[in-house]
Amino acid sequence: MSKEESKNNSVDKIISFCKRRGFIFQSSAIYGGLGGFYDAGPLGVEMKKNLKEFWWKEMTQNHENIVGLDSSILMNPKVLQASGHLSAGFADTLMECKKCHKRFKKEELKNDSCPECEGEMTDPKKFNLMMKTFIGPLEDEASVAYLRPETCQGIYLNFKNVLDSMRVKIPFGICQIGKSFRNEINPKNFIFRTREFEQMEMQWFCHPNKADEFFEYWKEERLKWYQSFGIKKEKLRATEVPKTESAHYARKQVDIEYLFPFGWGEIEGIHNRGDWDLSNHSKHSGEDLMYFDEKTGKKYFPYIIETSVGVERLSFALLAEAYQEIEGGRTKTTKSVKKTEILLKIDKKIAPIKIAVLPLVKNKPELVKKAKDVYVALKTHFVCRYDETGSIGRRYRRTDEIGVPFVITVDFDSLEQHDVTLRDRDTMNQERIKIKDLVNIIKERLKD
Ligand code: GAP
Repeated sequence: MSKEESKNNSVDKIISFCKRRGFIFQSSAIYGGLGGFYDAGPLGVEMKKNLKEFWWKEMTQNHENIVGLDSSILMNPKVLQASGHLSAGFADTLMECKKCHKRFKKEELKNDSCPECEGEMTDPKKFNLMMKTFIGPLEDEASVAYLRPETCQGIYLNFKNVLDSMRVKIPFGICQIGKSFRNEINPKNFIFRTREFEQMEMQWFCHPNKADEFFEYWKEERLKWYQSFGIKKEKLRATEVPKTESAHYARKQVDIEYLFPFGWGEIEGIHNRGDWDLSNHSKHSGEDLMYFDEKTGKKYFPYIIETSVGVERLSFALLAEAYQEIEGGRTKTTKSVKKTEILLKIDKKIAPIKIAVLPLVKNKPELVKKAKDVYVALKTHFVCRYDETGSIGRRYRRTDEIGVPFVITVDFDSLEQHDVTLRDRDTMNQERIKIKDLVNIIKERLKD
């Protein structure tokens, strides 16, 4: 198998796994799909929710001086004029094949012919990446609005509101999670580059003299964060982006990259945006967005250090990191030849389902009742699943495949002893635990 084939093979395996097990589905699939759009399935939505909560806690609780915000997707179009997104700043250069009519970003082309059919390409054209819509009943120029291409503009618009209402002092941060939209020319690599995605962004406002120091601080913090939920250090790197390729607002840009099955790809951007945003919004709106330093009595535009990560890209990285195929299965047995088993070794905090409750057999009503009682007692504390179909071994395999960290089995001893077996996904260790202690023990183990 060539390198290219093995790369596609593993991306394809993850795509098919995500569909089969309810993580990610193609959007509008019954109508042939819609390029660059995906839906999160029942497990995908739990996983994304966990990731977002984990990031939110990291920003607003583990760090000091960061407050949250939830601003609207549509804004006055003047905002995007001032931010530079309506001008050349947020455009890709597009070339189209005259033969097969496929479109490519100019930087994706190695020479002047089409990578698909070697046809002749058109001259390069600038193409703005923002998606347009209309507000109100008329579809004229005056009612045009754009779906936001990044969440942070809403943060800059509320900079003064947050200062006035929260009595925060520089340095401080505002963070937000929300949808962004980009009319990407070439969505690709599954959920790596899509046209609708969620961003988790934090804007750190600081004195210009402190910007370099905070840039390094946040870069290191963010690299540490990824390792705190199982992304291996050797699969992460921070790459400085040369000025000629960096975002139009960035004085300095470092991409945090992950080694995806298709190669290195950016998961997070760390940007020193200088005073680009606040000074431009001041100029265009006429509103003074300077910060008044009570100690020195001076006013200045704070510099902004931004950390920005995509929820879907990070989910893809985590799934790729966690997905394992184990030839011959996890347990050695002399029984018939075993097939390959899948283990999703995803961090317990991020795992979509935390506990599966299984009665040892389903044809003993007293066992089923006991297992259902355990399930009911746990399900208000954790996302749980009850499963009684198939052999116990098969049910264990099903839970391993979707990364369930703990499996509880209710057996005949449970009826007398009021205890159960608790199986750990990673070690496959099984121990007897009293039913009354389950909630506390599992809560404790989920914290690690
Ligand atoms: N506010 C800064 C900003 O938006 P960016 O580098 O353009 O910076 C930040 O985007 C992150 O958002 C990326 O690292 C990526 O995780 C995610 N992202 C950007 N475009 C995306 C797309 N088309 N599909 C999925 N995720 C995307």
